[in-house]
Amino acid sequence: MKVFVTGGAGYIGSHVVKALGEKGHDVLVYDNLSTGNEWAVLHGRLVVADLADKLTLARVLDEYRPDAVMHFAASIVVHESVQSPVKYYLNNTACTLNLIEAMLETGTGRLIFSSTAAVYGIAEGSPIVQESAPLNPINPYGTSKMMNELVLRDTSAAYNDFRYVSLRYFNVAGANREGRIGQVYKNATHLITRALKTAKGELGGLEIYGTDYPTSDGTCIRDYIHVEDLANAHIAALDYLGAGGESNVFNCGYGHGSSVREVVAQAKKITGIDFNVSECGRREGDPPALVAGNEKIKSVLRWTPLYDDLGYIIKTAWDWEKKLA
Ligand code: UFG
Repeated sequence: MKVFVTGGAGYIGSHVVKALGEKGHDVLVYDNLSTGNEWAVLHGRLVVADLADKLTLARVLDEYRPDAVMHFAASIVVHESVQSPVKYYLNNTACTLNLIEAMLETGTGRLIFSSTAAVYGIAEGSPIVQESAPLNPINPYGTSKMMNELVLRDTSAAYNDFRYVSLRYFNVAGANREGRIGQVYKNATHLITRALKTAKGELGGLEIYGTDYPTSDGTCIRDYIHVEDLANAHIAALDYLGAGGESNVFNCGYGHGSSVREVVAQAKKITGIDFNVSECGRREGDPPALVAGNEKIKSVLRWTPLYDDLGYIIKTAWDWEKKLA
């Protein structure tokens, strides 16, 4: 298939592009390189352009005429979204509208959308959320993605030829096993990356944001999923839409979580470095616990996780981190 991939030079996008290449698909990456890197595109062709530039977007789509679109390009930092909501509504919500409109204009009818567990907000009762749970995002990042999901729902209802799969990512981490691509952000905010940068000596210490949450050890619980398992979920979603599957939404996670303290302990064990950790107050916009109910993706997309092991996730992230300057 011909697959148009926005944000394909970024962390998750580049792993999916690699997986698409390994499956023999033709790929065109559309990325403004704001956080992505040219070297991360291991397969296909890269067009450096912005989704806000509707004319270029429409022209590139029209020339390429893909069978499907995968849409990764977005701003993703929860606490930044609390401080700069307009950036998130423009870059995530509005740019996705541009993409959907261009798809409709060029007759491109299949979309795989990068959504997030942040659409759920604070889970009621059990930390395990199913896709049918109410959407109550507690930060602009989650709201911006939820708005896109609603637009997708309505668009697929209005146009028979438009079908989509929305993948709600939980906490994506790790790097590909050959160490060719991985996460590179100038100001990393994610827990595992910050822990490893602290172990490496790049950061002076790791802060635990909040120890008074209503969880087993007082720190937040998240469902950490290896980026290659997530990449495989995209391949499964592409096959599903290719086989005529109807528009659908799936959680992407392992169905169990780890606390911040557990992640820190594993990071110390894997690196062999007893790095400096301190405790501080809560970070704005953080729900206490988010774990994916994953029965649906396993049964409908026949997705089988291969790397459900926090130690492995941290090990691949550590191997990658050590390769960075
Ligand atoms: N944390 C720390 N110290 C740090 C960094 C993070 O204690 O230095 C804590 C956070 O407070 C949170 C947990 O570690 O409790 C995980 O934080 P991350 O920043 O790694 O990830 P988030 O859970 O905030 O967000 C990520 C993605 C979102 C996605 C969400 C779903 O960035 O896109 O997971 O759970 F929506």
